[in-house]
Amino acid sequence: MNEIKPSWNGRKLVRSLFVIKDIKKGEKFTEDNIKSIRPGYGIAPKYEKAILGKEVIRDIKRGEPILWEMLRGKVKLTKAIPTDYKIVHSIRYSEDVMKNSLSKNKVSLEEFKKWFSKEYKKYKMINKNQGFIKNDNGFIGIALKKEYRGKGLSHEVLLNTDGKAVILTGNEASLCCFIKSGFVIKGHYLEKDFTYK
Ligand SMILES: CC(C)(COP(=O)(O)OP(=O)(O)OC[C@H]1O[C@@H](n2cnc3c(N)ncnc32)[C@H](O)[C@@H]1OP(=O)(O)O)[C@@H](O)C(=O)NCCC(=O)NCCS
Repeated sequence: MNEIKPSWNGRKLVRSLFVIKDIKKGEKFTEDNIKSIRPGYGIAPKYEKAILGKEVIRDIKRGEPILWEMLRGKVKLTKAIPTDYKIVHSIRYSEDVMKNSLSKNKVSLEEFKKWFSKEYKKYKMINKNQGFIKNDNGFIGIALKKEYRGKGLSHEVLLNTDGKAVILTGNEASLCCFIKSGFVIKGHYLEKDFTYK
């Protein structure tokens, strides 16, 4: 049997999301102004729900394929630097984040500093010190300081992130947030890929 390989040509055959009416910066994607059509140059149709109602960050012309980076930004992501260890440690080992993480060992600040000096490249800071997202070989972890939760920040970060995530049973906030941002349940983990980005 022939193996089906995704290719640029293959993209012509699949559907993806396109803008079908001009949208002005600050307006939202609605059922009226987007449509799933061929070819597959935009994001995949399965993310339609995730982007409906989201504001766009620039004028978009009818006929443009929809890309994740068109969505409004409340979040600035920056690459972590070694000295971010204090912020990451304080969030990562806070009581409620510990409750929702796989590893239950509390690591001291000194130990963490050493570890982070080797691992910091896996981290990005959310609005400098409000939280972080980590990508460890494709596995995503995200956490925010308590006072910045519930403002849509993680949703925005996750809309623009792909990978896998393992979420502990009972962590409703995280589960809802990942699913709302386009991740789908695959057995014991969640996954999203940007095949058609
Ligand atoms: C999980 C977490 C990252 C969510 O971040 P957040 O920025 O507060 O989430 P958002 O404001 O972007 O919310 C997006 C969606 O997530 C869901 N959600 C967020 N908080 C929720 C809560 N407390 N209960 C239920 N659903 C929740 C909702 O569907 C929400 O969409 P809505 O506001 O339109 O209803 C944050 O709660 C956190 O840092 N928790 C501790 C660390 C953790 O558990 N990380 C996940 C392990 S990978």
